[in-house]
Amino acid sequence: MAKKPPKKLRSQSWFGREDIYGFIYRSWVKNRGVPHDQFDGRPVIGICNTWSELTPCNTHFRIIAEHVRHGILEAGGFPLEFPVMSLGETLMRPTAMMYRNLASMDVEESIRANPLDGVILLVGCDKTTPSLLMGTASVDIPAIAVSGGPMLSGKYQGTDIGSGTNTWSMSEDVRAGKMTVDEFHEAESCMHRSHGSCMTMGTASTMACMVESLGMGMPGNAAIPAVDARRNVLARMAGRRIVDMVKEGLTISKILTREAFENAIRTNAAIGGSTNAVIHLIALARRVGVKLDLDDWDSLGRGVNTMLNLMPSGKFLMEDFYYAGGLPVVLRELGEQGLLNKKALTVNGKTIWDNNKKAKCFQREVITPFAKPFKKNTGIAVLRGNLCPDGAIIKPSAATPKLMKHRGRAVVFEDILEFHRRIDDPKLDIDENCVMVLKNCGPKGYPGMAEVGNMPLPPKVLKKGITDMVRISDARMSGTAYGTVVLHIAPEAAAGGTLALVENGDMIELDVAKRRLHLDVSEKELARRRKKWKAPKAPMTRGYTKLYVEHVLQANDGADLDFLVGSSGPGVPKDNH
Ligand code: FES
Repeated sequence: MAKKPPKKLRSQSWFGREDIYGFIYRSWVKNRGVPHDQFDGRPVIGICNTWSELTPCNTHFRIIAEHVRHGILEAGGFPLEFPVMSLGETLMRPTAMMYRNLASMDVEESIRANPLDGVILLVGCDKTTPSLLMGTASVDIPAIAVSGGPMLSGKYQGTDIGSGTNTWSMSEDVRAGKMTVDEFHEAESCMHRSHGSCMTMGTASTMACMVESLGMGMPGNAAIPAVDARRNVLARMAGRRIVDMVKEGLTISKILTREAFENAIRTNAAIGGSTNAVIHLIALARRVGVKLDLDDWDSLGRGVNTMLNLMPSGKFLMEDFYYAGGLPVVLRELGEQGLLNKKALTVNGKTIWDNNKKAKCFQREVITPFAKPFKKNTGIAVLRGNLCPDGAIIKPSAATPKLMKHRGRAVVFEDILEFHRRIDDPKLDIDENCVMVLKNCGPKGYPGMAEVGNMPLPPKVLKKGITDMVRISDARMSGTAYGTVVLHIAPEAAAGGTLALVENGDMIELDVAKRRLHLDVSEKELARRRKKWKAPKAPMTRGYTKLYVEHVLQANDGADLDFLVGSSGPGVPKDNH
């Protein structure tokens, strides 16, 4: 070997050996033309790739991986790309969320089992971001997340249309007879017209902003469009930087501190981000031993204004956000308001404040000033009450103000199949003042906690021109969706929560200002109903679904698997030779 290998690098436990096993470890890697000097003790960097044609939002990741590879080589590292389970939001059933924890196990074990000193995480479609971060956090090596970037804006008949957001609205238009099926098909082609992730402030864009605000991404990571050359430059710079991070020993747990999570929570409020971030960040925090609870979302988000006029809450799209200055503007404004932990360290070795303090805004209609915001005081609200003793959430920026205090008659759907069977029935006893209640769509119940909480309204209500009603469930909601929708009720119905006991005709009270969700039924009557309640039958008797249902935590605990919480560290596993 040319140089004495530094002992501290874990890869040298494989490649630094001068015995038969060193031969085995190196020789097989050389089979594709790797020169001998790549094993000389330089940092070995994994490129963890979620490319898959089954994940349409990540289909450009082979290109991004090549740019990362160039950067690693330029900085004197040795890149080794590897695939992990990819989670495509649109195609996977029952829901990609059920596999987030499985993919995180794939990431964790792939990293730990192999000679890697640092890793670049290629993330894009919703669940690929939390799963890769969670898995890496449980190994605790240096890491940078590189998001794939949003698609170009959708364009249909002269107007901008956004992923998901306009899917819901156009679908309602078809059901209300305002749009033809042919027009609906045409819009399909107009909405998603380039590589990249959903270009609204949905979950993928939110998680890309979380990556940047946590300090886990390079500055500018959140919003550069997927097909913009600057996305490739960012990937290359991340490849260069990770090599130094390994030399500095800057591991993921040094970035993912309590202060970093506080920054991310406030950022989520300022961008009008997805409710899914609540679950993902709680799960991620617990992988690195940071104490983070549902109530942190309410207390830290209070008083934070939504600055972005982006769909689903507003009218612009991610491309506009990038041209207006992107997330650095939001972080700079939060810092100026005293709402940013300025000293939080980021992957480029600088503090979050140093990275963003000079950010300029070029389009104030897209990124409004904090003092004259798009919407005021719109952090995630955490509700309590007899319906949700362990919490439920609502996104005020996506809700109808006059429905935020509401009392209405429950119209109950026992599960999503019953909902689909009955919702279009003209005889369904429902009007706009009712509260739609959906059960058995939580982590255990669905299983996987699907994004079905934003139930479509019944046609007879839509035909009156009404576009929102109070809806409550133990489900999640797509980050691209909107409405007065109470989500993540815990405990969920399938775990015997009070939600399981709601019956048609019960009165339900929502008061977001008082953070209250109440079922107006006496304790005695609830006790009577509870005696009769039977847990739903297990959906599977084997395989991952069985493991998932038996071990998944409730939404307020991040819906991780109980045995995955925490970290096992980067220790090198035993040699098998
Ligand atoms: Fe992949 Fe929205 S479906 S990011």
